[in-house]
Amino acid sequence: MIADDDHGVDAGYAVADLVAEFLADARSRDVPAPIPRPMAELDALFAEPPPARGLPLTAVLDRVRRDVVPNAAWLHDPTHLGHQLSPPVASAIWIDALTSAMNQSMAVAELSPAATALERRVTRWLADLAGLGERAGGTLAIGATEATLTALLAARATAIPDAWERGVAGVDAVVLASEHAHYSVSRAVAMLGLGSERCLKVASDDRYRLDPDALRARLVECRDAGRTVVAVVATTGSTAVGAFDDLVAISAICAEHDVWLHVDGAHGASALLSPTHRHRVAGIEQATTLAWDAHKMMLLPLSTGVLLARDRALLDQAFQQHAPYLFHGEADLVPDQGRRSFQCSRRGDALRLWVAWQRVGTEGFAALYDGLCATTREIYAAVCEHPQFVPVHEPECNILCFRSNAGDDAARRAAYNASGAGYITLTTLDGLPTLRITVMNPLTTVADGVAMLTALARVRP
Ligand SMILES: Cc1ncc(COP(=O)(O)O)c(C=O)c1O
Repeated sequence: MIADDDHGVDAGYAVADLVAEFLADARSRDVPAPIPRPMAELDALFAEPPPARGLPLTAVLDRVRRDVVPNAAWLHDPTHLGHQLSPPVASAIWIDALTSAMNQSMAVAELSPAATALERRVTRWLADLAGLGERAGGTLAIGATEATLTALLAARATAIPDAWERGVAGVDAVVLASEHAHYSVSRAVAMLGLGSERCLKVASDDRYRLDPDALRARLVECRDAGRTVVAVVATTGSTAVGAFDDLVAISAICAEHDVWLHVDGAHGASALLSPTHRHRVAGIEQATTLAWDAHKMMLLPLSTGVLLARDRALLDQAFQQHAPYLFHGEADLVPDQGRRSFQCSRRGDALRLWVAWQRVGTEGFAALYDGLCATTREIYAAVCEHPQFVPVHEPECNILCFRSNAGDDAARRAAYNASGAGYITLTTLDGLPTLRITVMNPLTTVADGVAMLTALARVRP
């Protein structure tokens, strides 16, 4: 007999109470974010055999309340200024329980009828925002890492049509990306069997954007050397500084050379939602494929990645799997989203994006995007005025990098995070350790940014 008989509303309320309690604490300025215990202690905390018999739900939830919640990274805390992870919008949090309850599988439409329709709808909405046209289509993905791998697989199918059957041994094929592209690009190139060295780095300009002249020169070099260019990858919203590559110039060069343009818009594609910031992604409509993480600037929970293609047929050629027990019929006639994804069983995550969109609305998403960027801009102004810190760039979105003039950024960041005053990150730019914040939380104010600078200046590295 299975002890877990928690189908009733009481069990749901007990879990909902815990979630609401966590949200209230994590969002409150009166409850400081706990500093998680060191990993060795956490391993010891859970070092026990699995229970032979099921425990009462209250006991299990008490344990989660005591051992898990205080040892989590509290992204909802207004002083958490770390990575590009969202404190998710609430409606998306709650609806996830229904996604698990229904447990649809996106591999085939007959196992996820409404969820498939929703995925087709939300990818349509996103493709329309990007201006990708009538033939566009897409799939949800774990994140931009999977989206980019899938896009480059599809690009490989165009550039090297027999690669799926025969592999790529002996083929001199390359992918070109900015030196500031996310590591998922070179990882994807390695996974395509081309070898990570065939991810050619293109130089950037003084704003950390891919330099179009350097790209043109690289493409000419490749053509003269007889190399096959599988794709060019441009980035909107680079990881380190949030830089937006010039997609108008880059797409024109790709068109000249008849090369597939993949845009990694993991962070920055959401600028499309904002009339104020949309200009930063001008030219995005020329992308052959586009990766877009709704779990970043649309503030959805993980994992809500999206891959879009101007022509959905291009995506359908990424994976050429013969699986008659699952897929039946021609790709364009059958709505099975599993044909477009690396995954087989996949959650119906489109529901949370659709529900969040119903609750927040396009204008609400725009306001979130604008607000996060505006707060960052004012923190940048505070950095400019601060006697101890210098900005490394002018922020184009909600990512800001700066340095302490004492040259002790790595140690200073570690001491600040250990102090419990807040959480910030560190990157390397131009060979130097660099402090980095990402303002992902609408509750974060300019005063939080100023307090962060004050505390950061005071800590003893
Ligand atoms: C520009 C860029 N591309 C790709 C990724 C990877 O995205 P994901 O973690 O959703 O796979 C990130 C993550 O921060 C990113 O900033």
